Amino acid sequence: MIKLENLVKDYGNLRAVDHINFQVEEGEILGFLGPNGAGKSTTLKMLTSYLSPTEGNIQVDDLNIFDNSIEIRKLIGYLPEHNPLYTEMTVYDYLHFIAEAREIDSKKFKKVLKNVVEKCGLNGVISKPIQTLSKGYRQRVGLAQAIIHDPKILILDEPTSGLDPNQIVEIRELIKELGKEKTLIISSHILQEVQAVCDRIIIINKGKIVADGSTEELKSNLQGKTKLTLDVIADEDSLAKIVDYVHNISVHSIKNIGEKTFKTIIEYDSVIDKRAEIYNYIKKQDWTLLEMHRENVSLEDVFRNLTVEEGAN
Ligand SMILES: Nc1ncnc2c1ncn2[C@@H]1O[C@H](COP(=O)(O)OP(=O)(O)OP(=O)(O)O)[C@@H](O)[C@H]1O
Ligand SMILES: [Mg+2]
Repeated sequence: MIKLENLVKDYGNLRAVDHINFQVEEGEILGFLGPNGAGKSTTLKMLTSYLSPTEGNIQVDDLNIFDNSIEIRKLIGYLPEHNPLYTEMTVYDYLHFIAEAREIDSKKFKKVLKNVVEKCGLNGVISKPIQTLSKGYRQRVGLAQAIIHDPKILILDEPTSGLDPNQIVEIRELIKELGKEKTLIISSHILQEVQAVCDRIIIINKGKIVADGSTEELKSNLQGKTKLTLDVIADEDSLAKIVDYVHNISVHSIKNIGEKTFKTIIEYDSVIDKRAEIYNYIKKQDWTLLEMHRENVSLEDVFRNLTVEEGAN
């Protein structure tokens, strides 16, 4: 349905988007995840025809952005980053203005308005000036303007950024509802955000795609591992030999942290719990176990591994 091919965007000498390729199928809910400055907004601006690519192409159905940008805009609803609104307008006036810009027939406006007001929970605030609304409500107005022309594709750039935790939950629920009937692309630099809503996640870093898979796939690629940290008074050489006694584990590191005391990190596939075997080995050696701490690798770690520079942490 949506196809990005070898997409490049340069701002002067800076390559913000560097040969990006991906496709989005109808009905998919895609999370577009990356740290600050990764190129998310730039990509979404090209997709919504606000910026033209330096190289490459974007295809939506059988339309392409060079020849059919106006038709493509009609298919897309877009909530830009920082949700620019005319805050001195009332919600009604603003949505009326957007409806006109979207060339919605004035006879249909009443019905259209009723529909978006209901969907976005704007009932109580319709005649209030936008500047008097809370950030959560402003975001609802932003979503209402994005769906007013009933687009089949909805693109939301950091839709929950700057909201308080309650507002985040509310807007997330609203987005989930909207995702039931639309193809949805949501950008974020916060993993939990896309994890909660999306079926698929693309991770972008420095303008390049570094991962693309279902949310479950991305998790299981790394979440399959358990990291066990042990503080133990032991003999270093024998400690390293633990791998000969407890099978299917690997010693990630051993660090001397005091008199005969070592911090060691052991890794293994999470399918089998190895803690008892490891403890038994320690007991057999007559060592003293000071601490044992288990950690499952989360999607957060996957994200960090993919986007944090070697040696930066
Ligand atoms: N108009 C512009 N002129 C010059 N450089 C720009 C412009 N817009 C963005 N950039 C740069 O391009 C890179 C990508 O920016 P972009 O806004 O696409 O990132 P992002 O992933 O959306 O980041 P954030 O999470 O901060 O919103 C950054 O290095 C940014 O500084
Ligand atoms: Mg951005």
